[in-house]
Amino acid sequence: MSYYSVLGLQKEPFSTSPDPDFFYRSSSHETALKRLEITIRLRRGLSLILGDVGVGKTTLMRTLLQTFKDEDDFIFHMILDPGYKSEFQFLQSLARLFNITTPSKSGLDFKEALEKYLFHQGVDRNKTIVLLIDEGQKITLENLEALRTLLNYETNEYKLLQLVIMAQVELLPRVKRMRNFMDRIALKYTINLLDELETKKMVEFRLSQAGYHNPTPLFTLEAIKLIYQLTQGHPRKIAMICHGALEMIVMKDQAQVDVQILNSFLETYER
Ligand SMILES: Nc1ncnc2c1ncn2[C@@H]1O[C@H](COP(=O)(O)OP(=O)(O)OP(=O)(O)O)[C@@H](O)[C@H]1O
Ligand SMILES: [Mg+2]
Repeated sequence: MSYYSVLGLQKEPFSTSPDPDFFYRSSSHETALKRLEITIRLRRGLSLILGDVGVGKTTLMRTLLQTFKDEDDFIFHMILDPGYKSEFQFLQSLARLFNITTPSKSGLDFKEALEKYLFHQGVDRNKTIVLLIDEGQKITLENLEALRTLLNYETNEYKLLQLVIMAQVELLPRVKRMRNFMDRIALKYTINLLDELETKKMVEFRLSQAGYHNPTPLFTLEAIKLIYQLTQGHPRKIAMICHGALEMIVMKDQAQVDVQILNSFLETYER
């Protein structure tokens, strides 16, 4: 029997996978999501979402995808690891992702085929093509340059490719050196860490999504305060500590996570 079913839960509440069902909409996450949605619907081109390690970029991306899941006019493509070494490799895999079958031998061939595809889908079929790229800090300068070329394809009213790049903040200084890339950014937003109240709400939200509906809170207020102090509102760190603390109460046969339990978990965790 799993530890969480002992606590009366149906699902694992603090898994570290980027599951939209466990995505708590803090004010910053909500702002990012809404602004992304608007920028995509208006077909304004390039959006750059920055954030610290573990702040929720991948989960946000999957949540965005879900927002549009019933809308046939939007075609989403996703690159989870854009660490392609050469421009040729990158363009080749983009063409594959877009299901382009035109034979291409050079980077130029691929660019032409991609342009044709974007015009066909975006103008003839009036579809909105969205390319979501995660781990944007891994994109080489050369490939950023290739993406810039694709962003040039537009009609008088709108861009043909909606590009969303999620990246750790280290991407920014690199992009800043590319003036003509910076000029194309329609939305730039940095996701903030949670504050103390949001930390509490994120914990409660994830517990309730996992099936905890008991009126007695599973974490004492003091425990939440300590979790906030320890994590400074980093979502991944919050999830990891909560996971460990819940395992600890099951092991010790206790009903609630309090400061004492947290401390005994932290002792084993830090060793
Ligand atoms: N708003 C949130 N609500 C609930 N859980 C969250 C939230 N944001 C992040 N998490 C949790 O934190 C963990 C890390 O999230 P995620 O992988 O999306 O972060 P990331 O920014 O993509 O990290 P990295 O920089 O390492 O790629 C996951 O367990 C995720 O569920
Ligand atoms: Mg990520």
